[in-house]
Amino acid sequence: VRSPGKQQAVEIECHSLEVVGSVTEAYPMQKKGHSLSFLREQAHFRSRGNLFGAVLRIRNTVFRSVNEYFWQAGFLHLTAPTITSSQCEGGSVPFSLSPLSFFNQPAYLSVSAQLHAEIFARSHTNVFTLGPTYRADPSDSPRHVAEFWMCEPEMAFRKMEDGMEVAEDLVKHVLTDVLRSHEEELAFLQQWQEPSLLDRIHRALGHEIGRSDENGEGKNDVKQQQGRWHRMTLEESAQLLGLNPTTTKDLSIAEEKELCDKVQGPIFLTHFPSESSPFYMKTKDRKHQSCSEGNGNVSLSFDLLMPSIGEVIGGSEREDDPEILLSNMRQTGLNPSEYEWYVALRQQGTVPSVGFGLGMDRLVMFVTGMTSIRDVIPIPRAMGSLHY
Ligand code: 4AD
Ligand code: MG
Repeated sequence: VRSPGKQQAVEIECHSLEVVGSVTEAYPMQKKGHSLSFLREQAHFRSRGNLFGAVLRIRNTVFRSVNEYFWQAGFLHLTAPTITSSQCEGGSVPFSLSPLSFFNQPAYLSVSAQLHAEIFARSHTNVFTLGPTYRADPSDSPRHVAEFWMCEPEMAFRKMEDGMEVAEDLVKHVLTDVLRSHEEELAFLQQWQEPSLLDRIHRALGHEIGRSDENGEGKNDVKQQQGRWHRMTLEESAQLLGLNPTTTKDLSIAEEKELCDKVQGPIFLTHFPSESSPFYMKTKDRKHQSCSEGNGNVSLSFDLLMPSIGEVIGGSEREDDPEILLSNMRQTGLNPSEYEWYVALRQQGTVPSVGFGLGMDRLVMFVTGMTSIRDVIPIPRAMGSLHY
């Protein structure tokens, strides 16, 4: 029946009621708002509430939308193994598997599907993976978990610029889909979680947001504006942030957010120092006169930073010279014999390629306004927490 109450269209007039599953006094969910940290301890019940209902429905759309983007663009979807023999990301700590006798060699949970994706970019040109990824980095930050989902496209014959273009198109495709499909959920999250949620999504899409006062109602008026996201080298960003450009090797989470605030939107940060880049990133020979440490080379790398979240994507062109690859491995303490097949990809009819990894859960944070990654994952796995 029509409801006389505000903020609701209808009410249910009940004639009979059957309780299908009753609760005991121990049921922890009350008829009031609970804190996010309390709800985190109730991960087996929290999806029954409207907050996690909204987050999970938007998460569902983000995953569908990413798959759709690549299928429409003709990419081959690969399922990559989650048990691997290599550590891939030099900087991150992998989980080790036991028993060791099973494979007769050390085995790890995958920290990235990239090296496997590179095989298939050399046979099928444009490919992507979307799978669970594991890192044992001892980081307790609100944007790190031990198990997260990463989408990793790899494209043959393409350059760094193409990689950034695909990354931007992909994220804009997802944002557009979420806006189109979740008006109700976004309004709810904006009211209860993040007052500037819609504003930051529209801004990222280049929509000009202004108040139309002509009708006197002060309604939000969204206009389409063209334009690509900002691109800036790490060195330029250091200058903008008042840091020392010659000693800055990476930005902290706080600096990433500050940079997004300065440019009022997403930004691609490019050309990280080679010495702090993983072994597979292609080096651009550009000597920095002023650089006192390292050899001054930078890699053809890029990170996408999103407002309030920071890094959501990391990618690069891949080194295709086998000698440089081997020397990079030795310098970073990796054993070249474990990567024999990867080097062979370069020796046997190689093509240049570019690729990136999109942190799916961080993108869900951006479109829901949730500030902890643990609140956008159905059953999160983080340091010191393996309940369920
Ligand atoms: O920048 P990362 O380490 O890049 C790679 O793994 C490359 N191999 C990807 C590639 O080129 N194919 O990770 C990519 C993204 C990050 O930008 C971040 O969004 C997410 O993965 N990520 C995490 N998300 C949640 N928890 C963690 N511990 C994460 N570590 C990385
Ligand atoms: Mg990264």
